[in-house]
Amino acid sequence: MEVDSLDQDFAVVTGGARGIGLAIAKRLHRAGAKVALLDRPGSEVSKAAAPLGGVAIEVDVRDPDAVDQAITSANQRLGGLTILINNAGTGMLQPMHEYTNQQWDDLIAVNLSGTFYAMRAAVPIMLEAGRGVIVNNASVSATDPTRGELPYSAAKAGVLALTRGAAQEYGPTIRINAVSPGVIRSPMTEMLYKNPAILEPVERSVPLERTGEAEEVADVVHFLCSEASRYITGQNIVIDGGMNIPQAGIDSVLKMSLDMMSRARRPEDESSDG
Ligand SMILES: NC(=O)c1ccc[n+]([C@@H]2O[C@H](COP(=O)([O-])OP(=O)(O)OC[C@H]3O[C@@H](n4cnc5c(N)ncnc54)[C@H](O)[C@@H]3O)[C@@H](O)[C@H]2O)c1
Repeated sequence: MEVDSLDQDFAVVTGGARGIGLAIAKRLHRAGAKVALLDRPGSEVSKAAAPLGGVAIEVDVRDPDAVDQAITSANQRLGGLTILINNAGTGMLQPMHEYTNQQWDDLIAVNLSGTFYAMRAAVPIMLEAGRGVIVNNASVSATDPTRGELPYSAAKAGVLALTRGAAQEYGPTIRINAVSPGVIRSPMTEMLYKNPAILEPVERSVPLERTGEAEEVADVVHFLCSEASRYITGQNIVIDGGMNIPQAGIDSVLKMSLDMMSRARRPEDESSDG
């Protein structure tokens, strides 16, 4: 058997109707898995699942009973459940002291509680089956809280805690890892791409000099679901083009200095060549 084949697998992807979740569902389907896409009522989840021959289930991940039912239903309709991708998420941008109780509750409910509810529902099924893989979609904001996104950052930090803790509790039967994307093009970040004045400095700050694509997250998730990653559990794989590499805060100034030095050297180089 190929180590990256998923043809014996049954995968649930939350937030699967669009963006990174849809790219993951397509990737797992291409690797041979049967897929169920879960997304909130009103999303176009049926339309997204149809080309994959997938199961579509409308569910709001903030509702614990509805998540239980959705996971049970996905297990029955797929004929099993061996992969769970907790990807449903949502964000907001404003100063911390301006968040209302409702906004705080909502960000924690979607990003953190939804992940917990789905893991809690899927784990007994995987234990019974004797195998399973869970991948939680966190964020670089989980380890380095980002300005204006503190409730989101706190929720994603909780997702990493769930990931590491559950990996300890459920190994060796279930492997549980997280991915932490940096800036990835999706409907969530589309505004950025409409505004070059914001996008360009972001791209310049990334060592790989561009933002990422949803498929680049999906490739890593596929790896984490496959036998190729069989000795990896409890980890957080950062997918950010190097954006998050710690630096001393003076890096952009030094880069400018190096650019100036190289510009100043150029005429000299040219005259010595001639
Ligand atoms: N795009 C990025 O740059 C980026 C960076 C870091 C982390 N992430 C994470 O990746 C995941 C996917 O993000 P995306 O960029 O594809 O965003 P997106 O907004 O395009 O997709 C999110 C999906 O989650 C679904 N969803 C939201 N609330 C839900 C709820 N209550 N119940 C069920 N489904 C719900 C949405 O309907 C949507 O289909 C999120 O968890 C996000 O936090 C994204």
